[in-house]
Amino acid sequence: MEHKPVLYKEIIHALQPQSGGHYVDGTLGAGGHARGILEACTPDGQLLGLDVDPHALALSRETLAPYDGRIHLVQASYITITQQLAALKWDFVDGIVLDLGASSMQFDNAERGFSFMQDGPLDMRFGSNAFQSAEDIVNTYDERDLADLIFRYGEDRDARRIAKAIVMNRPLRTTRELVAVIEKASPRRGDRTHPATQTFQALRIAVNEELASVESVLPQAVAALRSGGRCAVISFHSLEDRIVKDYFREQSKELVNPPYERIYEVERKAVVEIINKKPIVASDEEVKDNPRARSAKLRVIEKL
Ligand SMILES: C[S@@+](CC[C@H](N)C(=O)[O-])C[C@H]1O[C@@H](n2cnc3c(N)ncnc32)[C@H](O)[C@@H]1O
Repeated sequence: MEHKPVLYKEIIHALQPQSGGHYVDGTLGAGGHARGILEACTPDGQLLGLDVDPHALALSRETLAPYDGRIHLVQASYITITQQLAALKWDFVDGIVLDLGASSMQFDNAERGFSFMQDGPLDMRFGSNAFQSAEDIVNTYDERDLADLIFRYGEDRDARRIAKAIVMNRPLRTTRELVAVIEKASPRRGDRTHPATQTFQALRIAVNEELASVESVLPQAVAALRSGGRCAVISFHSLEDRIVKDYFREQSKELVNPPYERIYEVERKAVVEIINKKPIVASDEEVKDNPRARSAKLRVIEKL
């Protein structure tokens, strides 16, 4: 199935790519957003594209082949963006897009272990940079750490029960085995969400250190933008969105009052302007066409 870029028009509108500009797509995936950016900055805008997943990179290479000479694709985490820009000798860039999380290609491939709907190995690594798989976590963490992880990253009220059941049924090797354990420990509560949704989200976040990665990339992205340059971030769950929202808000403030210093205010000019006060979400039409877009939230800032 072809990957449909989420909030595609909105991303192009937010970045307003121009000929001659330099852009970064930190999460290439199938290259959908990247292609739109390259198309919009014809004839000579350039794009640096990153992804940790070698399959995503190979696919983007194909998708973006028509733009050869204007693209620089690297298999690397977006947390290395500063290094990657230095390697290209790009001092500043005009736009950065981050479309966080997993792609539908990754979800749809049972072998990657992201989906609780299909049977596959408990892997969940976006790329080989992850130092542990979901199988490692599920089979080696102690019960309390597992419960904390499922509660913190999955926000699941049944975290303790699920963790206990996992520990009692180890070793678990496949997604189907894990789903069966979760279904027993935390039966459906009448809502439409499958009981394994949150545990799978939690494991994926932990395996790929997703929240720490977002925390690391945002200051680098803001620093890399030239004045008037824009950064657009799409997140798919509230934990991620909160990090983006709070960081952008903090960088848009004129004054920062450190909590430990009540007498002297540290004066600082705002670094960015928030372009959309409320996050941009997908239209009903897009959600109908692509259900994954339902939870997408786009936040855009402009460097002052
Ligand atoms: C939602 S998809 C992006 C889809 C893309 N915008 C498109 O139009 O096809 C997210 C991608 O980000 C990649 N990814 C996740 N964490 C990453 C990281 N820390 N650094 C680079 N890529 C990452 C995933 O491997 C996945 O391919």
